[in-house]
Amino acid sequence: MNVHQPISPWREGYSLPQEFYISQAIFDEDVRQLGQTQWLLVDHESRIPQQGNYFLFELGSESVIVIRNRSGEVKAFYNVCRHRGSRICLENEGSKRVLTCPYHAWSYDLDGNLRSANLMPADFDPKEVKLAPVHIGIFEGFIFLNFADGTPPDFDAFVAPFRDLLRGHGLKKTKVAVRKTYPTAANWKLVVENFFECYHCNSAHPTYCSVHDKLKMLAFGAGAGSGDDKDMKLYEEKLANWERFSSGLGYPVGMFADEANSAFFQSGNRLPIADNAKTESVDGNPLAPLMNEFSDFDGGQTGCVLNPLSTLLVNNDHAIFFHFIPKGPRSTDVEAVWLVGEDAVEGADYDPANLMKVWDVTLTEDKTITENNQLGVNSRQYRSGRYSTQERRIAEFVQWYLDKIAP
Ligand code: FES
Ligand SMILES: [Fe+2]
Repeated sequence: MNVHQPISPWREGYSLPQEFYISQAIFDEDVRQLGQTQWLLVDHESRIPQQGNYFLFELGSESVIVIRNRSGEVKAFYNVCRHRGSRICLENEGSKRVLTCPYHAWSYDLDGNLRSANLMPADFDPKEVKLAPVHIGIFEGFIFLNFADGTPPDFDAFVAPFRDLLRGHGLKKTKVAVRKTYPTAANWKLVVENFFECYHCNSAHPTYCSVHDKLKMLAFGAGAGSGDDKDMKLYEEKLANWERFSSGLGYPVGMFADEANSAFFQSGNRLPIADNAKTESVDGNPLAPLMNEFSDFDGGQTGCVLNPLSTLLVNNDHAIFFHFIPKGPRSTDVEAVWLVGEDAVEGADYDPANLMKVWDVTLTEDKTITENNQLGVNSRQYRSGRYSTQERRIAEFVQWYLDKIAP
């Protein structure tokens, strides 16, 4: 279909019409708009600790080289040679002293300036040739990219709501312990919607449910603003008691959830995992040493939805971030990255298999249910369905999407 054709009407409180989950034209426009309007979480700085270390991030037809330069700064360039356009870096990650194009060997320094090009005419000035930069922002060690043609959205405004909530978490002093991608045969919006509700938790996630407080899951299973009002009320007193305890240790508490008309549709909160749980592990016991700036376990988990494509969860001893990379109308990569304190030693202080257990099981279940969702949505018999009181956050997400992203 063509994006200029009228699309089926949408009813507030209902899921989107089918074309939003299957159309190539809508998908292409989604990716373009997400890149222009959002700061996309791509990784943690600890992935590229030394000068010349780089990785590639791909979105739509764009490939970006994210690299540490000689003065230690992280830079991002489109992976497009200024000669005749070849990709420059072909491997997903590695280390380079210079960036040499494999086609005719033009080479660029780590700041993207052309250093050498053979047999060029006398009037060719290499100083005028630079790799095209991609907008980059760094917060608490996390690297964000934005693909705006002009001025990017204000990065300070983007991270400001999380400064207090992440105070003292020591995320800058962490390192990647393990990462895993869950390629999911579903539209990115079905993946996001699944992350914005815990209506499915009972039926789909036995392990996750055994780890988390039952009432908390009803009230805030998918973060601030996601649960039923009645359940939030029932959980209020328990939460207030824990907040007193946690504040007493000097840790931040609180929550917020943006409205559907916001720029980034963010939310954040700190909640206890469960009674007597120190961290988000199968038995509640620690999985790694306390991250640098925590002095004791309070059993809290800080949840930050930085935008619908990027979520961060921080426990006292480890953190996880998820990011969703739209790949096609019916294909999304879900990548999860587990972080521990930078001094933690694999084998002695943490076991990657244990560290990832709860979320590896949960994300594998999520992949299955989301793929099944897409299969049903593909049918001629799919109709927009009514949201429950535990799917309020999706109802708002859909409004945000139609307002800010959709063609
Ligand atoms: S395209 Fe890169 S050197 Fe020719
Ligand atoms: Fe889930």
